[in-house]
Amino acid sequence: MKILVLGSGGREHAIIRALQRDPDVREIHAAPGNAGIALDVPVHPVDATDATDATVLAGELEADLVVIGPEAPLAAGVSDALHQAGFTVFGPSKAAAELEASKSFAKDVMAQAGVPTAAARTCATAAEAEAALDEFGAPYVVKDDGLAAGKGVVVTADRAEALAHARSCFGVGGTVVIEEFLDGPEVSLFVISDGTNAIPLVPAQDFKRIGDGDSGPNTGGMGAYTPLDWLPAGFTEEVMQRVARPVIATMADRGTPFAGVLYCGLALTSRGLKVIEFNVRFGDPETQAVLARLRSPLGRFLMDAATGCLARVPELQWSDEYAVDVVVAAAGYPEAPVKGGALTGVEAAEALEGVSVLHAGTGTGPDGGLVASGGRVLAVVGLGEDLAQARTSAYAGVAEISLAGSQHRTDIGLLAERGEIVVPGAAGTEGKVR
Ligand code: AMP
Ligand code: GLY
Repeated sequence: MKILVLGSGGREHAIIRALQRDPDVREIHAAPGNAGIALDVPVHPVDATDATDATVLAGELEADLVVIGPEAPLAAGVSDALHQAGFTVFGPSKAAAELEASKSFAKDVMAQAGVPTAAARTCATAAEAEAALDEFGAPYVVKDDGLAAGKGVVVTADRAEALAHARSCFGVGGTVVIEEFLDGPEVSLFVISDGTNAIPLVPAQDFKRIGDGDSGPNTGGMGAYTPLDWLPAGFTEEVMQRVARPVIATMADRGTPFAGVLYCGLALTSRGLKVIEFNVRFGDPETQAVLARLRSPLGRFLMDAATGCLARVPELQWSDEYAVDVVVAAAGYPEAPVKGGALTGVEAAEALEGVSVLHAGTGTGPDGGLVASGGRVLAVVGLGEDLAQARTSAYAGVAEISLAGSQHRTDIGLLAERGEIVVPGAAGTEGKVR
C-alpha cells in the first residue's frame, strides 16, 4: 500500500510512525508535513486544505489511500474532492464533518439520535446570550459555533467574561452555543467508522488548559495518557451503545454517512455520561499516546474503514504498556506563539529508553537546525509498565528538549497516577473531581 497523509501536526506524525510499523504499507508520503515528519518520510509542499492541489498530488503519487489528519481540510471538502477523483480516502465528507465544524449541527444530531449531552441554546445576539447565561447559571460555558482549534470555548464563573466572549464571536458574524456546565472528568474515545460499522480505540485523557492544575486558557491540548484505570467497567461499550452507534446510524439515515474517526469528547458527570463535543478526526495530542500502544496494523485498518470493510477487521491488539505524551509549546502559546526559536535536544530525548518525539510546529532554520514554527512544537511520548514509569520516561525526554521560553505542563497523568480522579456519582466517591 502507498499512503499519503495530509496534515502537519503531531497527530499526523503519530499516524505516520504507526503506519511505518505496518508491513503492508510499502510507501508513505506526507503533505505538507513538518521538519520531523520529513526525517521519516518524503514530504510535499502542498496545502492540505487545497482540494485541487491535494488531488493532483495523490494522482502523481498514485496513492492507494489518502489519510486526512486535521479538521480544516475535512470541513473544506477535501475528502469529497479526492473521492470524486477516484481515490480511497480515510476522512469524512464535508457534510459529515459538520459534526465538528458546527456545534449547533452536532447538538441537532445528538437530539435526533437520543445521545446524552449538555442542554444548550444557540444564540445570535447579546440579549439571547444573556438569557441563556441566566437560564443555566454559573459556571458559564460559551462556545464559538464554528471551528476554533479547541480555543473557542470559555468556561468561567464570571458572567461578564462569558458575555464578552459571546460578543467577540458575534462580532465576526457568528453564533455561539451556551450550555449547561458538565462536572466530572473528561475522556476522549476515538471510534473508527466505515459509515455503518464502528470500532473503538482505547480511551485517553487530554489536558486542555495551558497550565498545571487546569489553570489558564484552553489550548489545542497539552498532553494525554492512556489507559485510564479509573474508568468504570464497561465504559467503552456504554459509549458505543449510547453515543457512537446512534450517531453513526443517524448520520446514515440523514443521507450523510459518517466514515472516519468519530472523536467522542465525553464527561463522566454526576448525572451520568454526557457528550461534550464531537470531532471528526483523531485528537491531538491523544493520538500520540493511543497509537503508541496499537499493535494491529494501522494501514490495513484505515483502508478497511475507507472501503466499508470494517466488519472483517479482527479485534484490535494493544500493548499492555502505559503511554503518556507531554506537549512542549512555544512561548506565548496559545495567544501569540513565538516562532523561530532554536530547538535542540530532540535526538537526545529519542535516544532514551521508552521515549519518542513527535513533531508538530517544527521547521528548519537558516543554519539547517530545527526551529519552532507553531504553537504546539512537539510531543514527547513516554512508554512504561505503569503510569508512573510512562510519566517518568516522558518527562525525562522533555528535560532533554531546549527551546527558549517554551512551556509544558508538569502534571500530565499525575492525578491518575495518584489515584485521585473521582467519577462523581460512582459508589463511594465524594470530593475531588477533575
Ligand atoms: P470543546 O471545544 O467543546 O471540546 O471544549 C473545550 C473544553 O472546554 C472541553 O474539553 C472542556 O474542558 C470544556 N468544556 C466544554 N464544554 C463544557 C461543558 N458543558 N461543561 C464543562 N466544561 C466544558
Ligand atoms: N485534543 C483535542 C482535540 O484534538 O481537539
